[in-house]
Amino acid sequence: MKNVLFVCLGNICRSPLGEAVFNHKADPLSMRADSAGTAAYHVGENPDHRSISVANKYHVPIHHKARKFVAEDFERFDYIIAMDRNNYDDMKALAQGGIDHLFLLREFDPEADGDMDVPDPYYGGSDGFEHVFHMVSRSIDELIKHIASDQ
Ligand code: 4NP
Repeated sequence: MKNVLFVCLGNICRSPLGEAVFNHKADPLSMRADSAGTAAYHVGENPDHRSISVANKYHVPIHHKARKFVAEDFERFDYIIAMDRNNYDDMKALAQGGIDHLFLLREFDPEADGDMDVPDPYYGGSDGFEHVFHMVSRSIDELIKHIASDQ
């Protein structure tokens, strides 16, 4: 079983979508995703209603309670996937061992053209969540292939 952790800032918009899309697409016998945030503002909360709406639109089940990323997550997870470079750098600063298993999600985006961040949709409208959903979804297709070929 490969355990995958998606990480963003608040753990209510982008990373719960990553977790939900991954668990919807991946073989549940070989891979499982969770999510966390580098900040604690929203700990214990459900995903943002706009993340829930876009997941429902594409028939992706979404259930999560926000939690904060902790250094021990580096030991607990086989792959840690940051939504943007700030999340990546914040986690890297907490690492006590190697970070060979820390990635940016858009390293797996076949349409990434230099910009490696999944944009934070929190302060925008629902179109931002639609954009993030498709970016996350196509990147996860490649991430799942990568993990499957790694084992
Ligand atoms: P997320 O979005 O990192 O994708 O969950 C955000 C949610 C909340 C805040 C920022 C980003 N906030 O500042 O409260």
